[in-house]
Amino acid sequence: MPTTAEQAKQSAQRKAAIAHGFDLVADAYGAPDSGAFVQRLGTGLVRRARLRPGDRVLDLGCGRGTVLFAAAEAVGPDGYAVGIDLSPGMVHATAAEIGARRLRNLVVRVDDAEDPGFPTGSFEAVLAGLMLFITPDPAAVLASAHRLLAPGGRFAMTSFGPADPAWERPVSAALAFAEPQQSVEEWSTNKGGNGLLDTPGQITDLLRQAGFGDIETEDEEDVADYRNPEHWWASVWNSGRRATLLELIPAERREDAKKAAFVELDSLAAADGCLTRRSMIRYTTATRT
Ligand SMILES: C[S@@+](CC[C@H](N)C(=O)[O-])C[C@H]1O[C@@H](n2cnc3c(N)ncnc32)[C@H](O)[C@@H]1O
Repeated sequence: MPTTAEQAKQSAQRKAAIAHGFDLVADAYGAPDSGAFVQRLGTGLVRRARLRPGDRVLDLGCGRGTVLFAAAEAVGPDGYAVGIDLSPGMVHATAAEIGARRLRNLVVRVDDAEDPGFPTGSFEAVLAGLMLFITPDPAAVLASAHRLLAPGGRFAMTSFGPADPAWERPVSAALAFAEPQQSVEEWSTNKGGNGLLDTPGQITDLLRQAGFGDIETEDEEDVADYRNPEHWWASVWNSGRRATLLELIPAERREDAKKAAFVELDSLAAADGCLTRRSMIRYTTATRT
């Protein structure tokens, strides 16, 4: 929790930037073509959360619902899933999809995971897909998740394991065309996140400090295939890295930036031209003891 007025101001600014960044990509985030990667992670997270029919589930940073829709299906008509997100664009797009699919056991709303206004012990499970390393104060979010869980309730989250440095070359090549900005420097030091959940040890410590037990972390390889360089570019353009990185490249330099990225991608392509990216996804589960 911010303890000084200056920290509170920085935290509010960071959250406004997060909301703006995800508003920008809300229409395309997690779309079947460029967002298959996040869809796979969402279903993987829900599987590990071991949800039961009738459970009440809170999904923190629900985005376009890659976790939320799978959770609502797992808990069935006697349970429900609530998604919250800082980004109004994400929430509106997900709400529209809930309406279009006529689903009755899930709702979304704009809210901050640090302090969503629910009574203590309201949920059997709290989930957080790819959000804790983004939010400015993950300890505050975990403290809140612990309070909102019923005794014995389950917490499950995803983050990233070690990245293959070769796949950072195309992004770095494009960023050489960006206006110098602090966020570009941050990206090269902690890959744009808050740097507080980069190792299993950091994750375990944060969860323990929030009062969780039975903490288990498992890395699983994800294999993503890109048809061609344009397909790869679309997946980055429609991700959280758009606002923090790619938008820093002035529009008139973007084509050159893309070409520079594609030169680097060439060296990653197989003989048949296919691009296959292997990355490690980190799944962590814990129990509210
Ligand atoms: C990378 S997206 C992940 C979306 C979704 N969970 C998924 O796995 O596809 C991260 C989301 O977390 C949201 N977020 C970050 N910090 C948040 C906070 N403190 N409260 C609510 N949402 C937050 C962002 O707005 C964004 O939509």
